[in-house]
Amino acid sequence: MGDKPKVWVSRPLFPDIIARLEPVFDVHAEPETRAFSIDDLVGRLHGMSAAVTGLADRIDDRVLSRAPHLKFVANVSVGYNNFDLDAMRAHGVAASNTPDVLTDTTADYAWALMMAAARRVGAAERWLRAGYWHGTRFDQWMGMDLHGSTLGILGMGRIGQAIARRASGFDMKVIYHNRSRLDAGLEHAVNAHYVDKATLLRQADHLMLVLPLTAESRHAIGAAELAMMKPSATLVNIARGGIVDDSALAAALADGRLAAAGLDVFEGEPAVHPALMALDNVVLSPHIASASGRTRRAMAALAVDNVLAFFGHGPHAGKPPSRVV
Ligand code: GLV
Repeated sequence: MGDKPKVWVSRPLFPDIIARLEPVFDVHAEPETRAFSIDDLVGRLHGMSAAVTGLADRIDDRVLSRAPHLKFVANVSVGYNNFDLDAMRAHGVAASNTPDVLTDTTADYAWALMMAAARRVGAAERWLRAGYWHGTRFDQWMGMDLHGSTLGILGMGRIGQAIARRASGFDMKVIYHNRSRLDAGLEHAVNAHYVDKATLLRQADHLMLVLPLTAESRHAIGAAELAMMKPSATLVNIARGGIVDDSALAAALADGRLAAAGLDVFEGEPAVHPALMALDNVVLSPHIASASGRTRRAMAALAVDNVLAFFGHGPHAGKPPSRVV
């Protein structure tokens, strides 16, 4: 009992899934979701061989240099911008994420936000609930069509491709930009045309952001890029806060230089830019794109399997299926 390795789980997940760690590990699971400071993380990781973390848990040299037992960190998310990969390599700490299991759920949600933004679902619902519906003017609540329009996708990994595949039912033309172009077969399969970033910005009626946050992609959409977009366009960010300059976006939405936006992620979340909060032409959600019951369980299960595998147990013993470091 006493010589089992210790694992820290940074927030409540699903007890039955976490219980699968118990035969192998001494499990220290947080009872509540909270934000941890660097010192909190160091305290929590004391003596831990492994950790199951989320995007809010920053794992960098400040933590790693004070967590000498740590060997493996499993993020319960596909993105891992909370990891300093160089520091992890330097400290010999391996890491994993949860790709694939959330691709379709996240793509579904990107569509939900795009439709809600383009067709003004949020604002119309607020208006109805506020008791204003005594009759609707024929020319009220008019939004933008999706069918027959041009969908632009910035970032064409697994989730971008799943978003593109969904467009065929809406007779949309799909254009995309990505660091590397898809091979011809894949382009054909997802029915998307490669364009440069400027063309993407100028031609998209609806623009989806699906790229990871890196030093390069920070503020990939700022005032200059917004100015290139059609004033009738909608912008959807399901990728990461920081890819969009939220303050420039709020200004464009307020001035009618962009019709609408749907945002699931924010710079500095869980804080949301107050100028966005004040606008009616933006649909806001609290980073829930992967939140279907089935997918959230699959993500937790994959993270647990990754930890077990790293320590030589479980279905993938010895080879975590989604190791990133
Ligand atoms: C969520 O944002 C994720 O990266 O899984």
